[in-house]
Amino acid sequence: LSALKGKDFLKLADFSTEEILALLELAADMKAGKGPVKPLAGKTLGMIFQKSSTRTRVSFEVGMLQLGGHPLFLSNNDLQLGRGETIYDTAKVLSRYLDGIMIRAHGHEQVEELAEHADIPVINGLTDSYHPCQMMADMLTIQEHKGKLKGLKIAYIGDGNNVAHSILIGSAKVGMDVAIASPVGYEPDADIVAQAEGFANEQGSTVVITNDPVEAVKDADVIYTDVWASMGQEAEQDERVQKFTGFQVNEELCSHAKSDFIFLHCLPAHRGEEVSAEIIDGKHSVIFDEAENRMHAQKAILVACMAD
Ligand code: CP
Ligand code: NVA
Repeated sequence: LSALKGKDFLKLADFSTEEILALLELAADMKAGKGPVKPLAGKTLGMIFQKSSTRTRVSFEVGMLQLGGHPLFLSNNDLQLGRGETIYDTAKVLSRYLDGIMIRAHGHEQVEELAEHADIPVINGLTDSYHPCQMMADMLTIQEHKGKLKGLKIAYIGDGNNVAHSILIGSAKVGMDVAIASPVGYEPDADIVAQAEGFANEQGSTVVITNDPVEAVKDADVIYTDVWASMGQEAEQDERVQKFTGFQVNEELCSHAKSDFIFLHCLPAHRGEEVSAEIIDGKHSVIFDEAENRMHAQKAILVACMAD
């Protein structure tokens, strides 16, 4: 993991399979209380939020405190960034005070720009294109419940969004078969799918993109869904509810998966829309382990990128 020191954590495609697995191992160690003691003592992490958050904010903030460091919550409304100060100047100035930046933003290119000009590690806490910290927590959760990653099948049902993109890349990197079922017009980005196919080839696993939820869920070990309208798409909510008819994760759909499948959702969730209450609150659901694992996975990322 020493290769990650000083590096940004923007998207999973930037990391090797070995690096991803090593981060997961460190996360599991730290969760078990076996990690380094206060490895970020005296370090500060600025956390810029251009969108709402419950899990990302609290898990990074508490995680940073547990590592001996100090988090600063920086709302876009309060930063001069929100009044038009450039990303360049923001990156340069924050680099003089902080040891790292976590940012949740709209365009992924804004985060790339911040990282390019910052002299300190930048961690992506969700953009319109990716949610890599989420997928690290998801893989940690799958590994805990299934004992492995490689060779499993994960099915994602719903919008081809930021979460779907990180699932695609992360799964392909660790050799999980991944199937994504979305309504026509809501498929994941074609370039990201092509990239995932390349990584899957190297691992001997498969990538399937379909408009048929039953095909995706068939024999799956893991079933995943996310909201139909992401942050920033609130105006499309009604239209999307129409278009996503038939894409709800419910008992009928899950009957096509392996009998011991686990259900994941990054949260927040809408019971009765993308998932039925019987599934998300039922015995296959591990959503709160998954939410807890955000903190453990991110602590590993923070240590790898920021510790001396
Ligand atoms: N899953 C996730 O990122 O949740 P928040 O939006 O609450 O941070
Ligand atoms: N796709 C969702 C994920 C929230 C954690 C969104 O971007 O709003």
